[in-house]
Amino acid sequence: TVLVVDFGAQYAQLIARRVREARVYSEIVPSTMPVAEMLAKNPKAIILSGGPSSVYEEGAPRLDRAIFEAGVPVFGMCYGFQLMAITLGGTVDNTGAREYGRTPLTVSRSGSTLFEGVPAQHSVWMSHGDACSAAPEGFTVTASTDVVPVAAFENDDLKLYGVQYHPEVLHSDHGQQILEHFLYRGAGIAPDWTTHNVVDEQVALIRAQVGDKRAICGLSGGVDSAVAAALVNRAIGDRLTCVYVDHGLMRKGETEQVEKDFVAATGVKLKVVDAQERFLTALAGVSDPEEKRKIIGREFIRVFEQAQAEIVAEAGEHGESVDFLVQGTLYPDVVESGGGTGTANIKSHHNVGGLPEDLQFELVEPLRKLFKDEVRMVGQELGLPEEIVQRQPFPGPGLGIRIVGEVTKERLDLLREADAIAREELTAAGLDREIWQCPVVLLADVRSVGVQGDGRTYGHPIVLRPVSSEDAMTADWSRLPYEVLAKISTRITNEVRDVNRVVLDVTSKPPGTIEWE
Ligand code: XMP
Repeated sequence: TVLVVDFGAQYAQLIARRVREARVYSEIVPSTMPVAEMLAKNPKAIILSGGPSSVYEEGAPRLDRAIFEAGVPVFGMCYGFQLMAITLGGTVDNTGAREYGRTPLTVSRSGSTLFEGVPAQHSVWMSHGDACSAAPEGFTVTASTDVVPVAAFENDDLKLYGVQYHPEVLHSDHGQQILEHFLYRGAGIAPDWTTHNVVDEQVALIRAQVGDKRAICGLSGGVDSAVAAALVNRAIGDRLTCVYVDHGLMRKGETEQVEKDFVAATGVKLKVVDAQERFLTALAGVSDPEEKRKIIGREFIRVFEQAQAEIVAEAGEHGESVDFLVQGTLYPDVVESGGGTGTANIKSHHNVGGLPEDLQFELVEPLRKLFKDEVRMVGQELGLPEEIVQRQPFPGPGLGIRIVGEVTKERLDLLREADAIAREELTAAGLDREIWQCPVVLLADVRSVGVQGDGRTYGHPIVLRPVSSEDAMTADWSRLPYEVLAKISTRITNEVRDVNRVVLDVTSKPPGTIEWE
């Protein structure tokens, strides 16, 4: 394991991902963790992240100097670099010499572990107020900028390295190369962490955890639950039962995809519950978004619990109970909830629409160490079809929150058609990976006048909401090519009954959320 010590902001997650891209396993730990505890994890190397503080600020995070004296290779970046400098006797000044953004760097490569083979001049991403003016004793200065005399240093004997900039961001040229130099050359770690190993390792862990007992897993049609289920299925075979609740708010082909493609690829034992009538009845007459969400969540839980009771009853005949619930929790969720240790906190998980806290199960979370892109790779490794592995996020309440107004069967069918057309055309234009997701929304309570054929129409508008995003917390509207928009618009107005207008949502998030409700 390589430990990434988190000094705040978003840097640590990105560094951890870059380390894994170098095929070395990494984990994030908070900077408040005692050094002894970090070392007890037997890390092969430690990386100190950047952070928002100044080393001079009162209360700024510090590190026990023991971290540099344990013989474990350490790489400090930005704040981590400055902390390393002052802890080991170098000088960091608040000179007012700030650098932000892409900055030319001059590198002395000879004898350097980090910089061998990279161009003597290249640009890197800086973001700092304080600057290091003298390296600690015994360290070689290996880079500088116009403003900062000491922009990188290393002590190869002690295996300690640091750079003032952010090698983890794409704006830093050769950043990944330098990180790999540290990992492979500095720390002597072999790049052998692959999704293939992840699958083997997780399968072994799941077997050890579940033993000869049984598990269930709620499938949502999303990537995470599908990959989690496929992994557990590989580990325990038909002692896993998957439950898919078809609430009728799915997109076109979605249920069939789970029923056919997923089962074909995994051989998983699947229980599909047709609950369309139940959801439509519960949603009748309701237009308030929050009320819709609550109803959908509540009905979902009821149906899931009922299905689960049936499975338990069936299993009971063979004298076995169902003790485990599979969840597709990902690493960012774990990190953000304070790196919790597991079974205690069942949160209202988006994959299964918020399960009640009193479910009497132990959790199996085989993806809790993975990032989203790694989950997709594991899915590929497990042989899941592209359409499942590469799919864009889709909200648990489904099309129910993409109809502005009351949800009816007729409206759902109409929206399903429009959504299918938009998806088809975006896929045909090769834009699937470029956009984060593209909600298609039916303004069921709005009508406008149109003319189709020779006649007047009085129909509903459809809204296209294509967005680009990294994590759905913020988003920008995607600048789709006009031809693609034109094609979608023409097809929807021609092919979908009662729709005579297509509009484009050009609002970023904030202020607009991605979904309309
Ligand atoms: P908003 O609309 O809040 O959406 O900008 C952010 C992301 O979350 C998805 N979303 C949901 N996902 N259950 C889910 O599983 C929900 O209730 C839900 N509401 C929004 C949305 O599609 C986007 O990716």
